[in-house]
Amino acid sequence: MCGIVGYIGDRKAFPILVNGLKRLEYRGYDSSGVALAQDGEIAVYKKQGMVVAMEEHALANNTSGSTGIAHTRWATHGQPSDENAHPHVSNSGNLVLVHNGIIENYQSLKDLLKGKGYTFHSETDTEVLVNFIEYVQKEEGCKLRKAVRLALTQVIGAYAVCIYDKNRPEEIVVAKLGSPLVIGLGVNEKFVGSDATPFLEYTKDAIYLEDGEMACLTAEGEVSIRMIESDVSVDPTIHALQMDLESIEKGGYDYFMMKEIYEQPRAIYDTFRGRLLPEQGMIKMSGLEEYADKFRNADRIIMTACGTSWHSALVAEYLFEEFARIPVEVEYGSEFRYRNPIIRKNDIVIAISQSGETADTLAAIKMAKAAGAMVFGICNVPGSTISRETHAGAYTHAGPEIGVASTKAFTSQVTVLTMMALELGKIRGEFSTSEYRALINELSVIPKKVEKVLESKEHIEKISGLYKDASNALYLGRGVNFPIALEGALKLKEISYIHAEGYPAAEMKHGPIALIDENMPVVVVAPNNGHYEKLVSNVQEVKAREGKVIAIVTEGDTEVINSADHVIEIPETLEALTPLLTVIPLQLLSYYIAVMRGCDVDRPRNLAKSVTVE
Ligand code: G6P
Repeated sequence: MCGIVGYIGDRKAFPILVNGLKRLEYRGYDSSGVALAQDGEIAVYKKQGMVVAMEEHALANNTSGSTGIAHTRWATHGQPSDENAHPHVSNSGNLVLVHNGIIENYQSLKDLLKGKGYTFHSETDTEVLVNFIEYVQKEEGCKLRKAVRLALTQVIGAYAVCIYDKNRPEEIVVAKLGSPLVIGLGVNEKFVGSDATPFLEYTKDAIYLEDGEMACLTAEGEVSIRMIESDVSVDPTIHALQMDLESIEKGGYDYFMMKEIYEQPRAIYDTFRGRLLPEQGMIKMSGLEEYADKFRNADRIIMTACGTSWHSALVAEYLFEEFARIPVEVEYGSEFRYRNPIIRKNDIVIAISQSGETADTLAAIKMAKAAGAMVFGICNVPGSTISRETHAGAYTHAGPEIGVASTKAFTSQVTVLTMMALELGKIRGEFSTSEYRALINELSVIPKKVEKVLESKEHIEKISGLYKDASNALYLGRGVNFPIALEGALKLKEISYIHAEGYPAAEMKHGPIALIDENMPVVVVAPNNGHYEKLVSNVQEVKAREGKVIAIVTEGDTEVINSADHVIEIPETLEALTPLLTVIPLQLLSYYIAVMRGCDVDRPRNLAKSVTVE
């Protein structure tokens, strides 16, 4: 969480920094700020709230500098306020710093600094860090780069930092451990970002700093990277960015979330393009091929993820067990990392993450690697930390997902995981060729079927209008659609702030049924598959208690339609592939309800897209 941007070059830094912050607002939007080097001073402008508030405030002042750093915050230490907003300036007024992460030993450093006469104006760990660097610099009588390095060796926690000295504004120092940081290389200018989006229109050449590395940036010089602990120099690897500007803009939609919902046919298609080969009746995934033996002989797969990505792992659990007959366990990254899990040599860990930066998932990966497991990553962001930390992997090709509530990343993850389940089933000799081929053929037409579901948009909007004032909602599903019930409930909670719970439909009788009355909308995911008859009964149980049923059914449904209050149809497909269709109406339902309730769909309160703190 938190986004950082930096610029050093010959242009005015302010517009670059502010546009960069707006693109990084998905990482947090509690407050924002910039620091500019101008007239031998540091001009700092910061404001609680969205970037535009800070922008207006700054534009009423001088914003002429061509070196600057900026930050958009998701509060950890200290509530959202102007004082707690970054950048933070050191006591002497010489150093200014922005930081993404958490300094865990900030209190002991603060006590030490207080003992030396330092004073603090915010509750943040970041203000402690900038002063600690200043303290080290004074003690050692050294240059900023060395002071940053020495200070960071004494810091416990996670950070991506960007700092400069007002007396040497021709240099910015950056460092990373645990939080992401990318350097953009322009002609006579350098950029810094928590991801590459702040500088996409200026350069496609980028260096992803690795954990434990720091770099000194000047407008014209080469980037010199060194290890923080050992001070050993590292040769930078320059990546050519594939992203384009259009993919991170709203393109006429009111919200990114809606744009991303509508991008799903393309995102699913791009995810299987070149991998799913229906004419040849095969799947080709290079990451899987490389470790085919390992997968063939695996005794167990452990999937680890957080949030929506955890739901795609739950869908995959059904598919892997069904098709590949491998036992699967699904673990929240945060739980897995702090247990003492039994990881055996024939276990494979699959880590799933849209951003590739989620701190708990990352820690789970490190722990699994240390225990000797092979770790396979499924990420959406190329070059992200998780994609680099894993032994092998497969990217989802959903394109940048900006809306905090994940949509196209989810269906792309399910697409990759479905292909993996099918391929592993084949590798392990668990399926007939005809069944395998039928699934491949059907997966290849799923994008068209998603388009068909999206045509129900207006119908779903009308239903949303009827339930927008609900205080609670229940989501029920069975089998592979039970995780879809969880995902539907999460979507509603995240963006409309209506309390919602997902349940396996049969579990309703063990508690949630007590909540059902005429005010309770119950969303039942009831496509025509192996669980259909049971779901018909569940719908009747809800109706008998006067609950309002919104059912997701297959076209041509004959039974649920008679008792549900509303039905939303999906095209017929194979049971294993229904999650890719049933989730779409649930995304739209939560979207419309949130819009009707006046919520900021792309920036729900208290949430952030990329959770880089545990
Ligand atoms: C946050 C986001 C969710 C996301 C989760 C995991 O909570 O708001 O949309 O599912 O993090 O993120 P990841 O990037 O690892 O998939």
